[in-house]
Amino acid sequence: MDNHFLLFVHSLLRYGVLLTVAGAGILHLRGYLAKRPILTGERTLAIWAMILCHTQIVIGLILYLLNFSAYAQMSGDIGRFWKMEHIGTMILAAVLVTLGRVLSKKAKDERIKQKRVAIFYLIALVLILWAIPWPATTVGHGRGWL
Ligand code: HEM
Repeated sequence: MDNHFLLFVHSLLRYGVLLTVAGAGILHLRGYLAKRPILTGERTLAIWAMILCHTQIVIGLILYLLNFSAYAQMSGDIGRFWKMEHIGTMILAAVLVTLGRVLSKKAKDERIKQKRVAIFYLIALVLILWAIPWPATTVGHGRGWL
């Protein structure tokens, strides 16, 4: 497997992460506000969001390590983004998603379960959106939507 293929998978998987994290966060918030029990599909979505976040972290780490010397030499805003912001924020987001799921599972009360996924996932969503090198930003300059 070469770098280009892994980078493509990592790039494409951002949409899977965004859709599942946003979907699970919003659906759990909706269920909480409507005071109804969690649906099986909603719980499955929350689990998928966690799996995709973890997969993305593993692929990201491999990409980073494969090209470690290049990143080590980068400086300025771009260097800081790749060495600190992208990695740090994404790992924090994945920790939040994992915590949200684990704490939700531990709670006995259905509403507390929903509230935990809603809060943790929606905060993680904002972090992920912020740390993606979108084409219109300085760090994403020259990159596409895929
Ligand atoms: C939810 C987690 C993450 C998401 C959604 C995400 C998303 C992205 C996106 C959209 C790109 C740009 C791809 C492209 O333009 O082709 C990218 C690049 C990259 N990401 Fe992540 N990422 C995540 C986590 C991580 C982590 C944890 C690491 C490292 C430990 C990492 C390392 C990288 C590297 C090395 C690149 C390539 C940079 C370059 O082109 O020089 N990512 N990531």
